[in-house]
Amino acid sequence: MCGIFAYLNYNVPRSRKHILDTLVKGLQRLEYRGYDSAGVAVDGGNDKNWDNNSKVIQLIKKRGKVKALQDEIYKQDSLDFDIEFETHVGIAHTRWATHGEPNAVNSHPQRSDKNNEFVVIHNGIITNYKDLKKFLESKGYEFESETDTETIPKLLKYMYDNRESDEISLSTLVERVTQQLEGAFALVFKSVHFPGQVVGTRRGGPLLIGVQSKHKLSTDHIPVLYRCGKEKKAVSTLPRVDGDTCLYPIGEETGVEYYFASDASAIIEHTNRVIFLEDDDVAAVVDGRLSIHRIKRTAGDDPARAIQTLQMELQQIMKGSYSSFMQKEIFEQPESVVNTMRGRVNFDDFTGTVLLGGLKDHIREIRRCRRLIVIGCGTSYHAGVATRQILEELTELPVMVELSSDFLDRNTPVFRDDVCFFISQSGETADTLMALHYCKERGALTVGVTNTVGSSISRETDCGIHINAGPEVGVASTKAYTSQFVALVMFSLMMCDDRLSMQKRRQEIISALRTLPDLIKEVLALDDQINSLAHELYQQRSLLVMGRGFNYATCMEGALKIKEITYMHSEGILAGELKHGPLALVDKLMPVIMIIMKDPTHTKCQNALQQVVARKGRPILICEKNDDESKLLAYRTIELPHTVDCLQGVLTVIPLQLLSYHLAVLRGFDVDFPRNLAKSVTVE
Ligand code: F6R
Repeated sequence: MCGIFAYLNYNVPRSRKHILDTLVKGLQRLEYRGYDSAGVAVDGGNDKNWDNNSKVIQLIKKRGKVKALQDEIYKQDSLDFDIEFETHVGIAHTRWATHGEPNAVNSHPQRSDKNNEFVVIHNGIITNYKDLKKFLESKGYEFESETDTETIPKLLKYMYDNRESDEISLSTLVERVTQQLEGAFALVFKSVHFPGQVVGTRRGGPLLIGVQSKHKLSTDHIPVLYRCGKEKKAVSTLPRVDGDTCLYPIGEETGVEYYFASDASAIIEHTNRVIFLEDDDVAAVVDGRLSIHRIKRTAGDDPARAIQTLQMELQQIMKGSYSSFMQKEIFEQPESVVNTMRGRVNFDDFTGTVLLGGLKDHIREIRRCRRLIVIGCGTSYHAGVATRQILEELTELPVMVELSSDFLDRNTPVFRDDVCFFISQSGETADTLMALHYCKERGALTVGVTNTVGSSISRETDCGIHINAGPEVGVASTKAYTSQFVALVMFSLMMCDDRLSMQKRRQEIISALRTLPDLIKEVLALDDQINSLAHELYQQRSLLVMGRGFNYATCMEGALKIKEITYMHSEGILAGELKHGPLALVDKLMPVIMIIMKDPTHTKCQNALQQVVARKGRPILICEKNDDESKLLAYRTIELPHTVDCLQGVLTVIPLQLLSYHLAVLRGFDVDFPRNLAKSVTVE
C-alpha cells in the first residue's frame, strides 16, 4: 500500500539532484508495497541563496511507476539540478488508489492551495473527510482532487490562516489538524511558512525516523513532551514535563540528516539508527533538532522514544542474483526457518527445551486459558490453519482459527480468559490490527506473531514472538509463512514442556525441527522438475489443489499463491469435501494437484485419488518418496522427503510456491508486483 519517504538535510550541503535522487531511491525501496502513482515535493526556487528557494514548493507527480516519476522530474526545465541547499526538506510518496483513480492530481503530495503553501503525504484513510470537505468548502476552499487526503493540507491552511499568533509552530498546527481527523493515518508535512522544517505524525499507520550524523548524538532517547493544562497553545508558551532535551548531534558542526519513512527498508541504506513513532506522536524537526510532542499523557505511556538500531542489512532487501524477490525469498527458507528457531530450541539438551523469550512471563497464564483464538488474513491465516491440529494436540485447548475480517463482522464473543494470537508478517494489516483492539477491549491476553519489529501489532500486543524471517519484499508471502508455521509449532512445544505424557511426541517433533532446513533444501532441489511441470500447466485456466489433515492449509496456501501471481483460477479443496461438490469439476482436462503424505489421512487421501482417476482426471501427486502405491495412479509426481506429520506442511507448500512462481514467469507476469495487490494492507 502507500509509502511515505521524506528527507531533511540540515547544515549538510546537498545538490538538488542529490536530494531528488535520494527521494526517488526511497520510493523505489517502497515499491514492493504496491502502488499506482507517485510524487515528490521539493523547494522550487533557483536562487544562489538556498534560503530563498524554500519560499516556493515544486510538486512533481505522475501516474505509474517510480521510474516514470523520475523521468518526469528530470524533464522539469524550471529546476536547476546542480544548485546546493545547506538545509532542505523533500517529501515523497507512492500512492495505492483508494479515493479516486490513479492520476497525477490524486497522487500525493496533496496541497493546501495553488501556491503550495502546505503539502502533505498520507498513508491510510480519513473516514470523516466528507464532513471536513463540506466545512472547508463552506469557508471558500476549493478542492481539486477526489482524495480524502486533500482535506488535510486545506485544514492546516485554515488553521494557519486563523492562527491566534505568529509564533505558532508547524507541529502545533499539525496537532490541531489531527485532532479533527478520524480514521487511520501516517502523515508528513512541509510548508513554505516553515522552511527547513518537517513534521510527521501517525495514528494507526507506521512511521519511523532515521537519523544520520557524522557527530555523536546528544542522547539515545527522545523524551516525549506533553502539553500541560487544559489549554492547548503553542509549545513555546507551555511548560514541558519530562525534560526538554532534543536529539541533537554534538560536535563542532551540527550537520544532521533525517529520513522519515513508513517502512524501514527505505531508511536502512542511509542509517540504522531509528526512532519508531507511537500513535499520536507529533515529531518535528526545527533547526536540525528533532522533538516529539503529545497532546496529553495517558497512563502507561512511555515517557521517551528510544533510538533503536535496525537489525536489517541492506543486502536483505536486494534481489542479489535472483530474478525476483519472491524467488529469492523461496530459496532463503532453509536459513529463515533456522533464524526463527535460533536461540529458542535447544537441540543439544536431552529434554529438548523450547524457550520463546517473548512469552516466558505469560506462559503460565496461557496454560490456564479457556481457549486459543488464532487470527490473521490471507497467508497468515493459513499458518494458523496449518498448525491448529498440533496446537490442539499439544495444548489440549480448544483452538479457533479466524479470518480477521470475518471475526470482526461476527462480533465474535471473546472473554477475559481467552488468549488471542495475531499472525501478521507486516504487523500492520488493518483488519488484524482492529481484531487486536477488539480482543484487548474484552480483556483477553493478546499475543503477536509478526515479522516486523516495531510494527503496530508487535507493539500493541501484551507479548509475542518475532518470527525473524528477515525482510519479506515479494508481495506473495513465502518465507514468512514457513516461519510463522515453525513459530507456532515451537509455541505448542513450549506449552507442553512439563507434560510427561507428551515427551515422546515432543522429542519426535524437536528432532524433525533439527533436520527441517536440510529437508527444505532437498525440496528446493526439485526446482527444475517443477519448472518443467509449469511448462505443461501454464496455459490452463484453472488448477485444483487437494489434500486433508495437516496438509489442508498447504492446499489453500498453494491455491492462493497460484491465483495471486499467475491470475489463474485456483482452489484449495479439502479432500474430505470432494464428494460434496468439487468432484463435479474433475474431468480429463482439469489439472488436480493432490497432496498425499504418509500420515493417518493416507488411506482417505488415496480414496480421493481413486475417485479423481475414475473421472479420468490426471492427478499430479505431491507425495513421499517411498509411496509406490500412490505413485501408480499418478499422472505426474513430485516426491518429497519424509518428516513428522505436523511439519509436513512446511515441505509440501514449497513445490506450490515454486510452481506458482514458474507459472507466473511463463505467463509473462511481474512476480513481485501482482496487479491490484499490496504487500501491506493498511486499509479495511
Ligand atoms: C499472500 C499474502 C497476503 C498476506 C495478508 C496478510 O501471499 O501475502 O495474503 O498474507 O495480506 O498480511 P500480513 O501477514 O502482513 O498481516
